[in-house]
Amino acid sequence: MRRHTTLSTVVAAALVAAAGALHAAEGDPAAGKGKTSMCIGCHGIGGYKTAFPAVYSVPKLGGQHAAYIVKALQAYKTGARSHPSMRAIAATLSDKDMADLAAYYATDAAKSAAK
Ligand code: HEC
Repeated sequence: MRRHTTLSTVVAAALVAAAGALHAAEGDPAAGKGKTSMCIGCHGIGGYKTAFPAVYSVPKLGGQHAAYIVKALQAYKTGARSHPSMRAIAATLSDKDMADLAAYYATDAAKSAAK
């Protein structure tokens, strides 16, 4: 059990470090956790589907790669991805907010919380 925890912490740290190397804005998982209050209403509920603007499955973010999350948020902000709720939310996020949120969601803590 202890060995497993240590190994996954190392893997998570490596992922965060790798994502950080790819992006100019370095994410801070602790800061990101504080920003998830904007996201947990939809992304925090296992198997949740939004009822507006259409019945829609909400993807799970916990354990996702940080680089992938940043890329998805940027795509919503620019309009390359077109989901209306996510476009509205991403429009309010700075590059630093995206990096922090992504760093948090990429951690093991976010994964085991299934958020
Ligand atoms: C109103 C509900 C709602 C809120 C609030 C919300 N999301 Fe989403 N999010 C969704 C839905 C629905 C999708 C799927 C949209 C699509 O398929 O393009 C999504 C997709 C995403 C994706 C792409 C995931 C993937 O695997 O494609 C990311 C990343 C994401 N949201 C991050 C966030 C973050 C970070 C926040 C908080 C700042 C947030 N979302 C707040 C509903 C929401």
